[in-house]
Amino acid sequence: MRIKYAQHDGRIPRLVFGAKEAQITRPNHPFVPHKPAPVSPVDGLSRGQRLFDELDARRSVRFFSDAPVPREMIEIAIRTASTAPSGAHMQPWTFVAISDLVIKAKIREAAEAEEYASYEGGRMPEDWREALEPLGTDWRKPFLETVPWIVVLFAQSYGFTADGQKKKHYYVKESVGLAGGLFVASLHRMGLSTLTHTPSPMGFLTEILGRPSNEKPFILFPVGYAADDCVVPDLERKPLDAVSAWFDG
Ligand SMILES: Cc1cc2nc3c(=O)[nH]c(=O)nc-3n(C[C@H](O)[C@H](O)[C@H](O)COP(=O)(O)O)c2cc1C
Repeated sequence: MRIKYAQHDGRIPRLVFGAKEAQITRPNHPFVPHKPAPVSPVDGLSRGQRLFDELDARRSVRFFSDAPVPREMIEIAIRTASTAPSGAHMQPWTFVAISDLVIKAKIREAAEAEEYASYEGGRMPEDWREALEPLGTDWRKPFLETVPWIVVLFAQSYGFTADGQKKKHYYVKESVGLAGGLFVASLHRMGLSTLTHTPSPMGFLTEILGRPSNEKPFILFPVGYAADDCVVPDLERKPLDAVSAWFDG
């Protein structure tokens, strides 16, 4: 094997493999050509701006219509989410999609019980209450029955091999967070709305949905169309300089 070194930052030599060499060194793990369609910086910037404008218009919705949403839209959102990068490509997530009325009612009842204990039962610390104040949320979650779909994203803390042995998963939270973000973006692209909902604690979802012990509830997404009279808190997003640091060359 021929090893090539490239000067990376002038001090530390970086090892690089040509694509062919990588293929040769991993005979049991085939590589395939990957040629992203060429996009000029001008077109790229314009595409990026359009995507930003579109995603900037996304809002978390708490007032939904009961208009039906075809199952295929949920399927494509889950497939889109599953394109997310994941630690060692373990894809450590399960999206559980529910349109069953009885199960949605059970989820609402259990979520409201937990939220009641948090909001009214003194379980929520004062600073958290204050942080939530501008959002106008309380223990009531009627939207959990209004929406045509609830999708619960579970994180798999470990997986299983074909012969039933435990398989380690890596960077589970990071991976599942990325998948959740793509799921939200896909719904938004299709004109659907959702809320990133985390009724705490969420153990009731494991029980109601009969999930295995390697799966932990991560986020509950009510999914549907925003109600005609939907309102959202008047929030501002941080400007670029507040969310970035630069070392321009
Ligand atoms: C991890 C996470 C958990 C959240 N949990 C809740 C929740 O339980 N209930 C709720 O009403 N909103 C919840 N939100 C939504 C946030 O309040 C919302 O994203 C934030 O206020 C910004 O509003 P936007 O999504 O409309 O931009 C959560 C968001 C995230 C990312």
